[in-house]
Amino acid sequence: MATALVTGGTAGIGHAFVQALAARGDDLVIVARNTARMQALADELGGDYGVQVECITADLSRRDDVDRVAARIEDPDRPIELLVNNAGFGLHSRLLDPDVEQHRLAIDVMCFAVLVLSGAAARAMTARGHGRIINVSSTSAWIMAGNYSAIKAWVLRYTESLAVELRGTGVTATALCPGWVHTEFHDRAGISATNLPDIVWIPADQLVRECLRDAEAGKVISIPTLKWKVAIAVAQYGPRSFVRWFSGKLSSSRHEQKDRQKARMAERVQTVAQMASDSVHLAAETTRHAAESTRQRVTTALHREGGDSGSQA
Ligand SMILES: NC(=O)c1ccc[n+]([C@@H]2O[C@H](COP(=O)([O-])OP(=O)(O)OC[C@H]3O[C@@H](n4cnc5c(N)ncnc54)[C@H](OP(=O)(O)O)[C@@H]3O)[C@@H](O)[C@H]2O)c1
Repeated sequence: MATALVTGGTAGIGHAFVQALAARGDDLVIVARNTARMQALADELGGDYGVQVECITADLSRRDDVDRVAARIEDPDRPIELLVNNAGFGLHSRLLDPDVEQHRLAIDVMCFAVLVLSGAAARAMTARGHGRIINVSSTSAWIMAGNYSAIKAWVLRYTESLAVELRGTGVTATALCPGWVHTEFHDRAGISATNLPDIVWIPADQLVRECLRDAEAGKVISIPTLKWKVAIAVAQYGPRSFVRWFSGKLSSSRHEQKDRQKARMAERVQTVAQMASDSVHLAAETTRHAAESTRQRVTTALHREGGDSGSQA
């Protein structure tokens, strides 16, 4: 029985991959950060399909974790027949932002880890003479929507280059370019996708079904659904100036959405800070009043006591 390794297999597109692969009888290795969630999924898949599921807890932004996963891929005693480099996240930081931490994490997870894990798989698979590598890019690779587009364009071009090096080895590399898919991606990135028309969305199971078929056929680029094939043809062969204009519109609406969210958050923080400051002020005033009335009561009592002792003398 073949074994497939899927990074980010616990949610969204990766989850659809592990479901489809388990349903066809593949054993699985799932890689993600959340161990409890991964283990629950492993139990479910084992119960539903009778397949073996191994879990590797790894943060693919960390070099030592990536190396650990690469070593598992190259283990000659437990061969991996299919690698799906899927783990990733949305990135909407502006290119002019001085804080580049999110950019660094995104490049580590969606480029560097893909490079290391694909290389490990390609070495192990060419030694056996068969195997498939799928790297999840995006239709964003064809537009100019910030660093996310640049990263996904890198995944696309890297996978095409890998396919060139692998020619004639029996091993294939496929870049999957999804359009919009309902997953945790948009919530995690803090962007609302509710205003997008239904037509742009692709069901994750259909995306995965078409991608696995394309990978089996040895296709280097997989763009599931006709509507997205047409959209990408327009982006690829249409005037670059039009694609840049469209990208600008898309990016600025996302940035405006982010700015509105930030402004709402800043307003909330200011209201809470004002309430906290009012409460502290009120508490201080109450304490001052209480201390003053105690002082007055004590003074009155002392006066009364002084008067009483004078009359007794
Ligand atoms: N959804 C879309 O519309 C869309 C469109 C085009 C391309 N894509 C691409 O599709 C891929 C999957 O996205 P999705 O939409 O399925 O997102 P998702 O629902 O948020 O799932 C992301 C998966 O990646 C894992 N992950 C995230 N960061 C990780 C890290 N540092 N180390 C290890 N695992 C990590 C998550 O698990 P843990 O949190 O447990 O680590 C989770 O299993 C991404 O590469 C994304 O760029 C998505």
